Amino acid sequence: MEINPDQLRQQSALFAAMDTADLHAVMALARNEAHPARHVIFREGEEGDRLLLLLEGRVKVSLSSAEGKEAILSILEPGQLIGEMSLLDGGARSATVTTMDVCRFLAIRRRDFLVFLERHPRVALALLQALSLRLRATNDQVGNLSFLNLPARLARILLNLGQQYGKHTGEGIVIGLKLSQEELGNLVGVSRESVNRQVRLWVEAGLLDYAHGILIIKDSDTLFREALAA
Ligand code: CMP
Repeated sequence: MEINPDQLRQQSALFAAMDTADLHAVMALARNEAHPARHVIFREGEEGDRLLLLLEGRVKVSLSSAEGKEAILSILEPGQLIGEMSLLDGGARSATVTTMDVCRFLAIRRRDFLVFLERHPRVALALLQALSLRLRATNDQVGNLSFLNLPARLARILLNLGQQYGKHTGEGIVIGLKLSQEELGNLVGVSRESVNRQVRLWVEAGLLDYAHGILIIKDSDTLFREALAA
């Protein structure tokens, strides 16, 4: 599969920080990788051997407890880097990364990219900026988990998903991710039953529709007020 350098620059701030010669040098180090839906690409605790740029599809980043419970840290979309943490600190994978759809990636071996970064401080700075953005998002998540009640947390997550993945249609904002009730609970940090109860209340009140994993926000104004209510 041919990869277009201009498209890479548009998709990723890391690649936008490279001049044409550097971009070609990185692309010479990279290879294509593709996985089907629901495939584990990285498992928490494994050694990190490569950095991935997500080109197509979506992945979820999650942690598992000893009892097998899952917490979803993030859902990443095309243009996002995966595996930069082990790349930088040499530690084990910090989380499990699973494809949600069929996904395509550009993969670069850790040792090749470290040599490249040492020679290209501008690209290293862009990588730090990407890490900083993730830390901000994680801070928001910790703040929400610590300070907000379930309806406000769920409303914020739904509005964020709507903003990232939503399509405006006559029916409302259709969130183009197939999320099970369990996954929705794992994103919000509550049980499937609790999230189900809240979703049902909002479906009955006309704020949402939810069928076969597809969420539709029908009344974003009221949902927005719920998000601010706690
Ligand atoms: P790494 O630790 O190498 O492997 C797991 C990857 O998941 C990690 O690099 C990041 O790319 C990604 N990741 C881990 N934690 C988060 C988070 N809180 N938000 C977004 N992505 C994350």
